[in-house]
Amino acid sequence: MSEISIESFNKKYGIEKKIWFSEIGEITVVNIKTSHCEASIAMQGAQLINWTPVGQKPVIWLSQDARLVNGKSIRGGIPVCWPWFGAHDSQTHFPAHGYARTVQWELFEVNENEKGTVELGFKLVPNQSVAGMWPFSCPLELRIRLDSFLEVTLITQNNDSQPVKISEALHTYFAVGDIRKTRVSGLDGCFYLDKVKEFARFQQAGDILFTSETDRVYLDTENTCVIHDEAWQRKIHIEKQGSQSTVVWNPWQNKSNAMGDMGAEGYLSMLCVESANAATNVVVIEPGTEHRLMVRYHVT
Ligand code: BG6
Repeated sequence: MSEISIESFNKKYGIEKKIWFSEIGEITVVNIKTSHCEASIAMQGAQLINWTPVGQKPVIWLSQDARLVNGKSIRGGIPVCWPWFGAHDSQTHFPAHGYARTVQWELFEVNENEKGTVELGFKLVPNQSVAGMWPFSCPLELRIRLDSFLEVTLITQNNDSQPVKISEALHTYFAVGDIRKTRVSGLDGCFYLDKVKEFARFQQAGDILFTSETDRVYLDTENTCVIHDEAWQRKIHIEKQGSQSTVVWNPWQNKSNAMGDMGAEGYLSMLCVESANAATNVVVIEPGTEHRLMVRYHVT
């Protein structure tokens, strides 16, 4: 992105000291500061990379070694995984978690209401490089509402003449004081596929604790989850709609070191709780209809 586009973005949507555009590495970012929170969203992937409610530590984790480079996924924030989650069903050379997170999105709307809630609307802009991966007509929109809460809605329309099957996730990286003193409640009794154990199926008993690599797809659950962040003495509440799977992930030390963009000891200060439709929870969207996946986060 050039200076000119930063300037034209600022001219079109900028509000002094409230909404402004900048560049981090190769990526254009929209920054928002309101009486409720501070936030930043990368135009590539419409990927939110910061949300910090007033008086709080950051809620969303961004790796100190994240690469903000065109066409590469950014480690942290809220990557949008779409139109498939994980590996593609049949085409092993297609990118993991789909292509939505590595292409440009268009910002088409910025609004502020009388309570100071800022809402942004983004549309995915398909380009040549993705045309061969998704032969369907499915406009994709992401709406982000910023307040003392954060609400994100991913809207898939099916403008095609046939039903379309997708899997997806809002792959949120949450910041915590210490993963070893963190637990996740809300999934007691749910069944999950354990990716660390070749997708074997287990049933959750009690809260989730973190003592080693954790990579699980909880199925058939719309439950609200709570991250109990003991080190920072806070709870992060995760409510969702239109999502039947919850993915819980921490790569732990060895995998984290091998990934190269997690930062030194980065795995100690993060976890992903992803609101998804994955594995057996794929979504079929009938022609002329839409599907919405919505999450809402707040901190107590
Ligand atoms: C999680 C998956 O959703 O994303 C993990 O369950 C994966 O298996 C992780 O390692 C990170 O994926 P990526 O493509 O961003 O490195």
